[in-house]
Amino acid sequence: MGYLSVLVGATLWSTAAALVGKGDVGRLPAMGWNSWNEYGCGINESVFLSTASQLVSLGLKDLGYVYVNIDDCWADKNKKRDSRNEIIPDVGRFPNGISGLATQIHSRGLKLGIYSDAGSATCEGYPASLGNEAIDAATFNKWGIDYLKYDNCNVPGSWNDQYSWTPEGMTTTAPKAYDWSTSKTAQRYAAMRDALLQQNRTILYSMCNWGAARIDTWGNSTGHSWRMSGDILPEWSGKYTWHQSWGITNIINQAAFFWNSTNFWGHNDWDMLEVGNGALTTEENRSHFAMWAAFKSPLIIGAKLHSMSKTVLDILSNRELIAFNQDPVYGAGAMPYKWGYNKDGTYDTLHPAEYWTGTSIAGIHIFMLNTRDSSFKMTANFSDVPALKSFNSSTQFIVHDMWTGKDIGTFTDEYRLDVAKHDTAALRITTSDGGCQSKARGYFYFEVDELRYLLPLFVTQES
Ligand SMILES: *[C@@H]1O[C@H](CO)[C@@H](O)[C@H](O)[C@H]1NC(C)=O
Ligand SMILES: *[C@@H]1O[C@H](CO)[C@@H](O)[C@H](O)[C@H]1NC(C)=O
Ligand SMILES: *[C@@H]1O[C@H](CO)[C@@H](O)[C@H](O)[C@H]1NC(C)=O
Ligand SMILES: *[C@@H]1O[C@H](CO)[C@@H](O)[C@H](O)[C@H]1NC(C)=O
Ligand SMILES: *[C@@H]1O[C@H](CO)[C@@H](O)[C@H](O)[C@H]1NC(C)=O
Ligand SMILES: *[C@@H]1O[C@H](CO)[C@@H](O)[C@H](O)[C@H]1NC(C)=O
Ligand SMILES: *[C@@H]1O[C@H](CO)[C@@H](O)[C@H](O)[C@H]1NC(C)=O
Repeated sequence: MGYLSVLVGATLWSTAAALVGKGDVGRLPAMGWNSWNEYGCGINESVFLSTASQLVSLGLKDLGYVYVNIDDCWADKNKKRDSRNEIIPDVGRFPNGISGLATQIHSRGLKLGIYSDAGSATCEGYPASLGNEAIDAATFNKWGIDYLKYDNCNVPGSWNDQYSWTPEGMTTTAPKAYDWSTSKTAQRYAAMRDALLQQNRTILYSMCNWGAARIDTWGNSTGHSWRMSGDILPEWSGKYTWHQSWGITNIINQAAFFWNSTNFWGHNDWDMLEVGNGALTTEENRSHFAMWAAFKSPLIIGAKLHSMSKTVLDILSNRELIAFNQDPVYGAGAMPYKWGYNKDGTYDTLHPAEYWTGTSIAGIHIFMLNTRDSSFKMTANFSDVPALKSFNSSTQFIVHDMWTGKDIGTFTDEYRLDVAKHDTAALRITTSDGGCQSKARGYFYFEVDELRYLLPLFVTQES
């Protein structure tokens, strides 16, 4: 007979470092759906209601996809604001207003997201929030909004940054010691953070400034997630220009240089998912989803749900990849441990780092991405992986396939397999004696007087 012994260790953190509101909103990467990639401005209430129904009926809500996010074009473009200076929703598109939609979304157990912009107008020319942060945050609060995507178009010249930072190529005009948290971009985004913190509702703050002003260095003290690149395109390798969209490999390449700015409460956002959009192959759809899950990027579906193929739905529904993304104990995303095709550290938008690793409560994970244009034999050499290095040479590693959910077998030094063109092998490694599994199996979370406590729960089986 075995019994369980439960040990509890406490971690306490203060509110200073990150935007942590009440509850654990924003602690893990957000999961949900957004209208932009498939509908653009062609939105209305029924788009969001039918999407909400689909999230429930396809089982996606139960997997964690709970945010239903309105992107640009929801406001009245002509009237803009009322006599109280509140943004007026487009009643043609939203006959029950945004608050009416929020009520219906909430009744399905889902959350509603909205969109605004830290400029004088949104990207499509609708009313935006620069200078109106307080009234807009209060309006969103009043309507029952749960998530704000805050874009970066139409920034007045007086708000231009002193120095530039261009994510593609990672070039800057700033001196090395420059503190980007003092930049005007950081000030524009902090103004909305402060307005959101005044509200009695916790609104997840998703900053969309395309990686400008080194947001990786101050994002965690400002919002819950921050875009790191130009807009994603449903292509394997995109055009890769500042305003003109990035493909999957462009973004993976960028992620290899910024993996360590993600942890609990603050996540690099590698943009909304294009799984199911455009012209990706099945393998490319798989790699896109596996890598975004591995990066702990928010997982925001961008495809139409009602016409989704079973293949695409299965990819988006992969429980093991979602579990890695949403791990309650390990906050860091996967890191590249070897480039593979290129020498380590190479900046290559076609052939980014191919060998990645990360830790979850289930074990040590290895993600091997084949960037070549044909099938390639890839090797997970266990002594290359930092978390597996310390095991001795007689250790028997159990290799598990996160795609099929099945164990592949037991291996000592390495595991080799053929990875199809542009596909990603997603593996979980454990040892039979539990040597690389965390002892922590979950966590308790509570708040007392503005202080937040996280208690990892350790469960050990004894005989
Ligand atoms: C709502 O938008 C969808 C998608 O653009 C469109 O097909 C539908 O006709 C619209 N419905 C109404 C009532 O405008
Ligand atoms: C939250 O603030 C709104 C005003 O925006 C107010 O109507 C509401 O009563 C407040 N709710 C709570 C629980 O304090
Ligand atoms: C972001 O801030 C949170 C809360 O203080 C902290 O737990 C987390 O480690 C920080 N992230 C990084 C990358 O330092
Ligand atoms: C990430 O790594 C860089 C380079 O090693 C380092 O300067 C930076 O402090 C790290 N950031 C975090 C949040 O650990
Ligand atoms: C993969 O995604 C694309 C869109 O990028 C979609 O059109 C296609 O149906 C998906 N491929 C398969 C085989 O499901
Ligand atoms: C595995 O990696 C270790 C450390 O980098 C290296 O010494 C060893 O030769 C590699 N094994 C193979 C089979 O490549
Ligand atoms: C290797 O490690 C295992 C525990 O993981 C241990 O049982 C075994 O004795 C070790 N073997 C050697 C040769 O050190």
